[in-house]
Amino acid sequence: MLKNFWYALEFAEKVTRKPIRVTCLGQDFVLYRGESGAPVCLSDLCVHRGGSLAMGSLVGDRIACPYHGWQYNPDGACVKIPANAEERGIPRKARVDSYPAVERYGMVWAFLGDLPEDERPPIPVIPEHDDPTFRAVHFEMELNANYERTFENVVDASHTPFVHGTSFGNPDKPEIPPFEIRSDDWSAEADIFLSPPPPKGLWGLLAKRKPRPEYVTVTNGWYLPNVVKLHVRLPIGDMLLYDFNIPITQDRTMVKIIGYRNFFTGGWADENARKRIEKILVQDRPVVEAQRPELLPFDLADELHVRSDALQVAYRRRRAQLIAQGWWVGGDDIITTEGPRRNATVIASPTRRDHPELASAWVHKARNGGKPDESARRAQ
Ligand code: FES
Ligand SMILES: [Fe+2]
Repeated sequence: MLKNFWYALEFAEKVTRKPIRVTCLGQDFVLYRGESGAPVCLSDLCVHRGGSLAMGSLVGDRIACPYHGWQYNPDGACVKIPANAEERGIPRKARVDSYPAVERYGMVWAFLGDLPEDERPPIPVIPEHDDPTFRAVHFEMELNANYERTFENVVDASHTPFVHGTSFGNPDKPEIPPFEIRSDDWSAEADIFLSPPPPKGLWGLLAKRKPRPEYVTVTNGWYLPNVVKLHVRLPIGDMLLYDFNIPITQDRTMVKIIGYRNFFTGGWADENARKRIEKILVQDRPVVEAQRPELLPFDLADELHVRSDALQVAYRRRRAQLIAQGWWVGGDDIITTEGPRRNATVIASPTRRDHPELASAWVHKARNGGKPDESARRAQ
């Protein structure tokens, strides 16, 4: 799992003045909105006795722990300890990590890492979001699979005729013609020609009046750390899926999807669009949950790649560079099962780097100290 990226953690409408807990990179966070409506993301773990802040309540911009009522500001500093007399003051260790948070494209994103602002990788651009000709639906599903397995699945064009033969792949034409990859440091995409099956159901009704093309151009791409775009140009219009593969832990993934379409843009067709997304995921689910090894290998040579796997190979190469940079949060420094534990660790937030004078003020140790773990080091 990669730190130092913006992660879309939740759909914006679910982040309100009632705090919620979300889990990503094996760590719990609390999300809520301050009085201005701006999203706030803090480590969920109260430094007093490990209470879950998400179970607490808001006092203005602050969140109050449900256990002994300590109140934390959006910057993570505790500003009130109710059991202490006024004059006792607040210990400087009374603070939790606070992660930069923004709302964009109908999602709340948090920067999970400690890089200063000008060094942070960008949030991917989703131009359809502000285009009034597109209509969006939201969908989510939790899978018992590693997020890089589910992420690569969406990037993988050659599985569609086999896994999705009844929805959007064509089992009679499984060949993937050669494609060119356009890439930069944070993304890679390609235009791939896929043979479509005849459209069915509601969408098929409209398509009947149009000639069925032999190939459709599908633009498929990944955006680090975990977003995949699938742009299908159907005879009836454009459909784009932005697929967020959120690593809850190494072996559980919350897949959140924003699906845009520029046909049937009335609300009446939303449920149909959602059902189609669900059908795709239900087809993928047993396949990715059964993949072994469960975690994506570090070494390219540990699986066999062919030409049509070029987008996944590009991902694995770029990931190896980031691991070498120390951005990996791996199995050696987190507890991936739900088992009980005695220590709590967190992802270091930018405050730790911006305020070296607070170096001794952190109760919870920062996870992995920026060093790749052993298994990742071996891969280089
Ligand atoms: S555990 Fe949070 S205030 Fe005591
Ligand atoms: Fe799939």
